[in-house]
Amino acid sequence: MNEKLGLPVGTTLDRFIMRKQEDFPFATGELSQLLRDIALAAKIVNREINRAGLLDVTGAYGQQNVQGEDQQKLDVIANIRFIRALRNGGEVCSIISEEEDDVIQTGNTRGKYIVAIDPLDGSSNIDVNVSIGTIFSIYRRISDQGCDGTMEDCLQSGTRQVAAGYVIYGSSTMLVYTTGAGVNGFTYDPTLGEFFLSHPNMCTPKTGKIYSINEGTYNSFPEGVKQYVQYCKENEYSARYIGSLVGDFHRNLIKGGIYIYPATAKAPNGKLRLMYECNALAFIAEQAGGKATNGAQRIMELVPTELHERCPLFIGSPEMVDKAEEFLKVEVAVS
Ligand code: AHG
Ligand code: MN
Ligand code: MN
Repeated sequence: MNEKLGLPVGTTLDRFIMRKQEDFPFATGELSQLLRDIALAAKIVNREINRAGLLDVTGAYGQQNVQGEDQQKLDVIANIRFIRALRNGGEVCSIISEEEDDVIQTGNTRGKYIVAIDPLDGSSNIDVNVSIGTIFSIYRRISDQGCDGTMEDCLQSGTRQVAAGYVIYGSSTMLVYTTGAGVNGFTYDPTLGEFFLSHPNMCTPKTGKIYSINEGTYNSFPEGVKQYVQYCKENEYSARYIGSLVGDFHRNLIKGGIYIYPATAKAPNGKLRLMYECNALAFIAEQAGGKATNGAQRIMELVPTELHERCPLFIGSPEMVDKAEEFLKVEVAVS
């Protein structure tokens, strides 16, 4: 056999998920199926995004979500696609979505899982061909099967996530996820319609030279954040800010860096949402050797009290997050 011809195409996401399931002899396969459902919806959303300029899917939808943000058409499309996939899959009893005011009960009362999802992250970048994403968190229900998920099922802290991941629709489309045993990344091959393992066991550098923060709101940053930003400049770090959390996080995960969305005058609790943005990325960051805090506490230990609650986010290379926190502590000490 000529090895140079017909090179292997690699491990598909489906096969990888199946192999991982075999590590758990009593696993029922439901979580595996749920991850496959999410991957299928991601492929469909990827198709819509790739052809966005050709279809009538760019621009505003004409309504606001519960947080008063203008919904884009693709926000709504992605929301429909993911909810449908999760409902049809049957493993999920309840869904929390950025685009829905209340918990969505799927009617699958036997479903063991709860999913929190940001169907389309980086809405402001949709119409200008810049990277956008999807973020998801998966929890096991606490209540008994046989009825809808309860508020207690939905408002679990991030430490109770059984899996989390994101899809980045970028220069290539990738799905990155963890089930608590490391982080693995898969690149989508559109010609085969499959995700292939391309980034096994992703680890983030302990430190880096990239800081990502919207400096346009510098004047209303907490004093400690201002000082940390000054520290980044004094050390000639690179400022990189796409405005799509998934894109900024993914770059920093690979290259080393810190992403900060602090409390600001306009957003006193920060802008990002604990349940479907911060927790998922915190789980992935930690599994890759990184760190995620709200400036003082570990994100995954925060106890949510509302579906759409917000929190400040400091996430990325562990030594950079520690350094930023040092500046915040000094601020608290002097105030
Ligand atoms: P979404 O599109 O899901 O509402 O999220 C947008 C978020 C996040 O992706 C990004 O990092 C942040 O908003 C950017 O906010 P600013 O424009 O305030 O910097
Ligand atoms: Mn988002
Ligand atoms: Mn969104």
